Amino acid sequence: MSPGESLALSRHFVLHFLEHATRADVAVLDGVVVGAIVTRIEGKPGIFPWGAERMERTDAALDASSVAARAELRKARRWHVLDKEIEKAANVTSTALGEVELFLVSAKARGHGVGRLLWRAAMDYFARNSVTNCFLHTDSSCDMGFYDHQGFRRISEESLREASPTLRDMARRDVIGVDRPHEKLFLCVGPTVRSV
Ligand SMILES: CC(C)(COP(=O)(O)OP(=O)(O)OC[C@H]1O[C@@H](n2cnc3c(N)ncnc32)[C@H](O)[C@@H]1OP(=O)(O)O)[C@@H](O)C(=O)NCCC(=O)NCCS
Repeated sequence: MSPGESLALSRHFVLHFLEHATRADVAVLDGVVVGAIVTRIEGKPGIFPWGAERMERTDAALDASSVAARAELRKARRWHVLDKEIEKAANVTSTALGEVELFLVSAKARGHGVGRLLWRAAMDYFARNSVTNCFLHTDSSCDMGFYDHQGFRRISEESLREASPTLRDMARRDVIGVDRPHEKLFLCVGPTVRSV
């Protein structure tokens, strides 16, 4: 993909996380964004009503782009469907009504407490809204250490190689898993411990 297409695909992912978000906290240092945590409480209205429309525009631009960009967009959409399938199979919303959609700190700012502050803001938000457990999707390409440290446990673990029927079906229809057969997808649940 060209750099422009790559940027559009990144925008697609960010908009996907914002589309149903009910809260977002951003860490700023000297006027520069150095981290963010985007969260969602089941049943609450989203705070980015423009998300869907922007996503449509971004996807339309990608659809009109190169073959490679169109293939990446198809793959991204199937990943989103897959996430929902995994949630459904694990019946996660019966125990956790909050979701951490996106959590990251820029590489240069890591290890200095930025993530801790963002995480606390999100957990306090859940706790204030009587959400006692939350969940998140992650995979083996991510650093799981932070979530282990917060007491999260994996309730679902899918390997793209030893795929469930859902994953196998998606692999048949798409390139999913072919380029990253060892990758594992995790659904994690943990308590929303309120800070003092
Ligand atoms: C995960 C991430 C958000 C943490 O942000 P950070 O600003 O570096 O974290 P902090 O310095 O605030 O650390 C907060 C706490 O988590 C612990 N921690 C941070 N990274 C950890 C890791 N990889 N393993 C274990 N503990 C970790 C710290 O020791 C600290 O513990 P404490 O509160 O008991 O002192 C950041 O490393 C990141 O953006 N990583 C890349 C994106 C990513 O992997 N996101 C999550 C998976 S999708």
